[in-house]
Amino acid sequence: MMLPRMLLGLALLATLPAFGQNPLDVARYDAAGNLVYPADLHAWIQTAASVGSDYNEEPIDVENPGTIGVVQMEPSAYDYFQQNQQYADGTMFLLTFYEPRRKTSPQLQGFVQGKMLQQEIHVIDKQRFPETDGHAFFLYRGEGEQRTTAALLAPDNACVACHIPEGAFDGTFVQFYPTLRSTLGLE
Ligand code: HEC
Repeated sequence: MMLPRMLLGLALLATLPAFGQNPLDVARYDAAGNLVYPADLHAWIQTAASVGSDYNEEPIDVENPGTIGVVQMEPSAYDYFQQNQQYADGTMFLLTFYEPRRKTSPQLQGFVQGKMLQQEIHVIDKQRFPETDGHAFFLYRGEGEQRTTAALLAPDNACVACHIPEGAFDGTFVQFYPTLRSTLGLE
């Protein structure tokens, strides 16, 4: 009698992550609820790069194309998404803005990543942030050594106001992230 019951229990446990019951334990908060700057950002998986998407409507100037944006995803969140086609609670995305730097030798055309300007983190956690349907936004300004913690932006922030209606999947801009949109079967 005991054995089948145990096996059933194990089988149930094994299916739990598929239902999003297994929050990722990666984001760290201090006592005030500020997000601690993740130490392993170099190992996060790049999901997108863009140029000139500075949230303004001016036409692109070829002399100064605007900032370069790089999007990265925390690796365990990336794996969970690829396996389950949804975000686990505790998922983190990073967007880093760089100054465009004009290329020199050997290629004379185009721009590469220059000075890092600002970093933004989007945490998706429906248990921790129910007020904004699980979406929390944090901004890290200043130079590297000053990036220690960032305060949660107020629930009525501009980030939520754009991300929720415009992001193609759960408040994120998956429509611009090739490896994520193909997982969802989007073009
Ligand atoms: C007017 C729309 C708009 C606003 C406002 C906005 N974003 Fe975004 N955000 C985008 C777009 C578009 C992308 C896709 C990345 C790209 O094109 O470079 C993005 C991507 C991101 C990402 C990568 C993960 C994701 O959610 O897709 C983060 C992190 C992020 N934004 C943080 C913020 C923060 C923090 C704020 C507020 C301070 C903010 N955003 C405000 C449009 C917006």
